Amino acid sequence: MAIDPHDPELVQLRRTNQMLQQRVKQAERIRKQWSEMVVKLQQSHDREKLISQQLAEKEAFLSSITASMDEGVYALNREGELTFMNPKAEQLLGWRQEELLGENVHDIIHSHSSDHSGGESSECLILQTIAKGESYAVDKDWFQAKDETVFPVALFSSPLIERGQCSGAVAVFRDIRKELETKQRLVESEKMASLGGMVAGVAHEVNTPIGIGVTGITHLTEETRQFQRAFEAGELTKQGLSSYLSTVSESAEIVFSNLRRAADLISDFKKVAVNQSLAECEPFLLKRHIEQLLLTLKPRLAEQEVEISVICPEQLQIESDAGALSQILTNLVENSLIHAYPAGESGAFLIRLQYIGHPGDLADEIELSYWDDGRGMPEESRLHIFEPFFTTRRNEGGSGLGMQIVYNLVVHRLQGAINVWSEPGEGTHFTIHFPLGACPEE
Ligand SMILES: Nc1ncnc2c1ncn2[C@@H]1O[C@H](COP(=O)(O)OP(=O)(O)OP(=O)(O)O)[C@@H](O)[C@H]1O
Ligand SMILES: [Mg+2]
Repeated sequence: MAIDPHDPELVQLRRTNQMLQQRVKQAERIRKQWSEMVVKLQQSHDREKLISQQLAEKEAFLSSITASMDEGVYALNREGELTFMNPKAEQLLGWRQEELLGENVHDIIHSHSSDHSGGESSECLILQTIAKGESYAVDKDWFQAKDETVFPVALFSSPLIERGQCSGAVAVFRDIRKELETKQRLVESEKMASLGGMVAGVAHEVNTPIGIGVTGITHLTEETRQFQRAFEAGELTKQGLSSYLSTVSESAEIVFSNLRRAADLISDFKKVAVNQSLAECEPFLLKRHIEQLLLTLKPRLAEQEVEISVICPEQLQIESDAGALSQILTNLVENSLIHAYPAGESGAFLIRLQYIGHPGDLADEIELSYWDDGRGMPEESRLHIFEPFFTTRRNEGGSGLGMQIVYNLVVHRLQGAINVWSEPGEGTHFTIHFPLGACPEE
């Protein structure tokens, strides 16, 4: 029997077959796409895993660094809220990271003085770092711990930048309590050392003349006893009387000159501790004052063939302690005469005074420069020149107080400052700056 190609059943069967083939192809495509997606998903999952593993490693690395740091570290977001705190910051502040996360820490820990007064947030460097995106460092600031103790810190804050934008700040701080204590102790011990040195120096200096004086008097007492015994025994001869009288006169001379030396030393010590209340303050013409002073020094200057030039505006008038200024210049000239020139050598000194005006807040001042063209001094002398008892002529009557007196007069009476420049063979130069009106208030 022949097959009719138009048999409806056959046509239906063919259509169904075609449809099935299309579905199979479709399913094949979907399966292919699906497996591609699965591969891609797998790849992106692997990548994510790698990234988060790398992130975790980086985080662990960073937190191991901050954990081992001896400085406190904390980070804030843009709103000034805490996002991180290292163990040292927890230990110093007494807060745990969890307690402060999301909190505005400026209000909690930042104090701007030792007396618990909270710092203005407008002055807070860390908040300014966030606002301006700039780093700041400060040597001394104050933090407050959980138990309300306030302690000094050195602080550094730096902005956190994400995609070119400031996203917060990280602050690194160091507890400087011990540093400050050590510094204070050092200052105290230096003060004590210089006081001790001063007392030892006074004792040493005064000891010699007093010792010689005591020896002289002891000798005189013994001689007087012998003289008295001879007198009572009726054995006193003319020769004995004359010898006793010359002993009395010699001993009196020795005792007198040594007591005088001790008295001079003590009066120098008194000048070292300049008494502000004794300062006499008056208006005077500088040039005239200095010329009058040089007249009194003239005999001393003539002995050594020394010339002094003075450069000073005629009408420069100041209100200050004229006596202190005279004493300062006398000591400088004395030193040049004694220390600057080998015996018999002549020299030239220059004193220049000038007015220095400061625009703005700084007070106008006088600059006094003093030069000698003598032998100068080595660094060792220059560094210690203002210290009490520093002298290179101890065995020739120097007590090392002249420049200490100058220093005290400049600083306390004239309320100024003094500097020295000198090199061996290059002469010596002092500059003194002091305000035009340095009178203490009544
Ligand atoms: N113009 C100078 N040239 C060179 N050396 C100087 C000069 N002025 C001071 N010195 C050095 O500085 C030291 C200290 O000076 P200072 O006036 O304090 O003490 P002194 O002159 O030795 O003793 P005193 O002034 O107490 O009698 C001097 O011993 C000297 O070595
Ligand atoms: Mg001197």
